[in-house]
Amino acid sequence: MSDLSKITNIEDLRVIAKRRVPKMFYDYADSGAWTEGTYRANESDFQKIKLRQRVAVNMEGRSLRTTMVGQETAMPVAIAPTGLTGMQHADGEILGARAAKAFGIPFTLSTMSICSLEDIAENTGRHPFWFQLYVMKDRDFIERLIERAKAANVTALQLTLDLQILGQRHKDIKNGLTAPPKPTLKNLINLATKPRWCMGMLGTKRRTFGNIAGHAKGVKDLSSLSSWTAEQFDPALSWADVEWIKKLWGGKLILKGIMDVEDARLAASSGADALIVSNHGGRQLDGAPSSIAALPAIADAVGNEIEVWMDGGIRSGQDVLKARALGARGTMIGRSFLYGLGAFGQEGVTRALQIIQKELDITMAFCGRTNIDEVDSSILLPGTF
Ligand code: GLV
Repeated sequence: MSDLSKITNIEDLRVIAKRRVPKMFYDYADSGAWTEGTYRANESDFQKIKLRQRVAVNMEGRSLRTTMVGQETAMPVAIAPTGLTGMQHADGEILGARAAKAFGIPFTLSTMSICSLEDIAENTGRHPFWFQLYVMKDRDFIERLIERAKAANVTALQLTLDLQILGQRHKDIKNGLTAPPKPTLKNLINLATKPRWCMGMLGTKRRTFGNIAGHAKGVKDLSSLSSWTAEQFDPALSWADVEWIKKLWGGKLILKGIMDVEDARLAASSGADALIVSNHGGRQLDGAPSSIAALPAIADAVGNEIEVWMDGGIRSGQDVLKARALGARGTMIGRSFLYGLGAFGQEGVTRALQIIQKELDITMAFCGRTNIDEVDSSILLPGTF
């Protein structure tokens, strides 16, 4: 066990992850599309929102516990689906799922994960988890994936709607991103500076897309995310597909990637259980507003019909509280989770969650509230949101 008591914020974890994770995978996680303007705004727009400090209010007996799609969570935070997580750290998705289980929050596995649905089920004692799905052209593959998710004890499906095509991410192109990395001279030189990561990878067999390898037909170059996406993801995705998936799955359905009020209304009328206000961490449409800026109008329009959640830019418990105040019943963390994982494996994920929980609790108290379910926009300073 490492002593992580001096790791006090997510930025500490990011700095260590950058040192320990091979450049191409660190860059993959820590970058956005094109100018990265939306990626940056996701974080910086949170800073503009100011909180109302209240005093002489009884702060005893505070509770952060709540539910997301009816499922209990220790705080309104779930781990977001992130691609190639098992390349940030060996067996990364298993470690993330174990940390989330111990903490009492939901973990979401990405379709583009390294560890498979079955790996997560086997290595967490079949603890319930969530699965994120992309609609691919091979509909038989999707049907089988959904069956596998049911068999693995997945209790909610997140359908991503904003990645019919892949946003332009300059760093990934320049780095020649593949999983596993190709043994080029440049990669080998970089890997030589990451001994812990290499040791971890030597100790696992999970080094490529576990949900896809051996399951999808006609996939030529599995290692390349961009070629796989271009070949397999369905650019013709429509609301009729959402209906098809909803029927096929039959359980809790969450629609991810909603940034517009009109789309939010369609999502609400699709009968899904939740929608996630998300610009995919600024990795798709650069030039879109930040998620926190898009949230209030969507929550106002459909918050009474469907659970509204958000992701993008959450690096602290304060961000979670602000999102909650602006109408998000739940939030999801991607990079904050990956930095912890890349820095210290499972312990790093636990540390990231502790940091967020502590800051959420203390900030809520300073705002004069003791129960997360009672937080609303009255904790925010008018004119700052
Ligand atoms: C996949 O979800 C990605 O953003 O790369």
